[in-house]
Amino acid sequence: MKLDLRRYEPADLEALRALLSGPSLAAEFDMLQGAGALEGALADPFLIRDGLQLAFVDGDLAGFCEAFVPPGAHGRFAVLRLGVSERRRRVGIGSRLLARVREVIEREAADVGEINLSAWLPADAAAAFAAHHGYRRVRSFWLMERSQGDSPAPVWPAGIERRLYDGSEAMLREMNGAYRDSFARHYHFINTSVEDTRAFFSRPNFRPDGLLMAYRGGACVGFCRCELFEQRGEVALLGTTTAARGIGLGRALLRWGIAWVERERAARTTLIVDGENDSALALYRSEGFGVARTRDIWSVATAGSRM
Ligand SMILES: CC(C)(COP(=O)(O)OP(=O)(O)OC[C@H]1O[C@@H](n2cnc3c(N)ncnc32)[C@H](O)[C@@H]1OP(=O)(O)O)[C@@H](O)C(=O)NCCC(=O)NCCS
Repeated sequence: MKLDLRRYEPADLEALRALLSGPSLAAEFDMLQGAGALEGALADPFLIRDGLQLAFVDGDLAGFCEAFVPPGAHGRFAVLRLGVSERRRRVGIGSRLLARVREVIEREAADVGEINLSAWLPADAAAAFAAHHGYRRVRSFWLMERSQGDSPAPVWPAGIERRLYDGSEAMLREMNGAYRDSFARHYHFINTSVEDTRAFFSRPNFRPDGLLMAYRGGACVGFCRCELFEQRGEVALLGTTTAARGIGLGRALLRWGIAWVERERAARTTLIVDGENDSALALYRSEGFGVARTRDIWSVATAGSRM
């Protein structure tokens, strides 16, 4: 077996798509399936240069690993995606890819303090692989789903105006500010700049009409952004600023998002939530969402955490 590792090049796009959509990896990388999804992930502003590495066995693509390195509340952290085609497992390819991407992180983002791996459960191989490399389980996220066709209409709190995102500089800045206010105390808050948000909204699969922003007294105090995947539509980002909590705005925005997903004829209506975010969980449960899948996160501290 001749194993070669190298950086992803644009000419690898279709081979990578074929690897990800094959039977052994499609369920794990469900968010990378369908038109524009992989291109969207490749355009993510936090994917670091050289951070997407491919493994070839006798010239055939057998695995990949990519590293996203966003700024957190206390420095940067790395989130990896890693997969090896089933028939090439247990021969060390995953370990080689992980080691290569860690070298890239040490070289290009030496300040990174934590690296994460994750997988949808059941994931016996991923859990054993993570443990073998010294990563320990730190968190679970839930994929929640609700039935379609029975969603109540939003009830907008008094004094709230709604605007669809229009791509203007003003709305871009307001969105970035409202996101930072709403999520600042959350696990793995991403400390985005306006430029990060601009780049994120420039991804080919971004839907401006799937982002509703709520205003009170001229200030943006809430937002709901939806995204479509091949198998499901998602209320992908929902937040209200600290000054606008407890007035029913989150529930109204959620209902707007549910209706958007249904209007787009997505097969399923879903969202992903931190399993320890009790207030969000209570809201989603009360709006008919139940847990459909669990995603475990494994973590290791790196040299950057001591900087
Ligand atoms: C997790 C995954 C990337 C591992 O890739 P791999 O190339 O098979 O991993 P390696 O051969 O480098 O395994 C290294 C060690 O991890 C552990 N391990 C990996 N797969 C295992 C399994 N199925 N059962 C038990 N231990 C396992 C073992 O300790 C192994 O060392 P050993 O073979 O000497 O016993 C692969 O199973 C995969 O692609 N799974 C689906 C995608 C996924 O879950 N991604 C999330 C990754 S965290």
